Amino acid sequence: MVTCYDYTFARLLSKSAIDGILVGDSAAMVMHGHASTLSASVEVMCLLTGAVVRGAAGKFVVADMPFLSFRKGLAAGMDAAHALMAAGANAVKLEGVDGHEDVIQRLVQSGIPVMGHLGLQPQSVHAYGGFRVQGRSDDSARETARRATALEELGAFAIVLECVPADLARQITEPLRIPTIGIGAGTGCDGQILVLQDLLGMNTDFRPKFARPFLDGARCVLDAVAQFDEAVKAGTFPAVEESYS
Ligand code: KIV
Repeated sequence: MVTCYDYTFARLLSKSAIDGILVGDSAAMVMHGHASTLSASVEVMCLLTGAVVRGAAGKFVVADMPFLSFRKGLAAGMDAAHALMAAGANAVKLEGVDGHEDVIQRLVQSGIPVMGHLGLQPQSVHAYGGFRVQGRSDDSARETARRATALEELGAFAIVLECVPADLARQITEPLRIPTIGIGAGTGCDGQILVLQDLLGMNTDFRPKFARPFLDGARCVLDAVAQFDEAVKAGTFPAVEESYS
């Protein structure tokens, strides 16, 4: 899977073999420049989801439930998921499990596929004191495994495991019947997800070790813009065939 937040990239991804697209609340950071995902709102996530769905014909699109949208009671959680599904999502993803089991269960019973998200849950960044690998201590590893089992029992169809030790991700994945999708969680997961802009090497200032750039996208963009700039200043753009008579 990869993340996507806009129509143009969604159209490109619809021509790829990728299995699924996540409209992640990471949009708050990647697209809108915030320091965390906390400022993503249901309204913004619906706007982005609609754009991605319109471009990503035939792809399975998961929309993130943003910060606190599933923690304000059952009715509010259902309203938030309703809005995302009405925007065209095929499923929703939410972080954690403890304290919002009722929302997860009601969503599943209502026919809404729910993806879980354990390990580093970016919406809890302030509780961690930063974006830190989770599950390194015995207690934290045990808790992460317990939560994965709880999510499966509640009916989640898959779980994102973010930034946990590779051995723990493998141990969690093996007994589960539902797939795990890893990011910074090693090869023991059933699938992998990356933020599209990281995969494309767009951000030279942000290179966590798990985010392999498969393209030097920043260089490609800068080269293209430099060529445009030079052509305009040299008077070679637009050419006659690029102009109307
Ligand atoms: O919001 C997001 O992009 C995510 C992925 C990192 C899994 O949750």
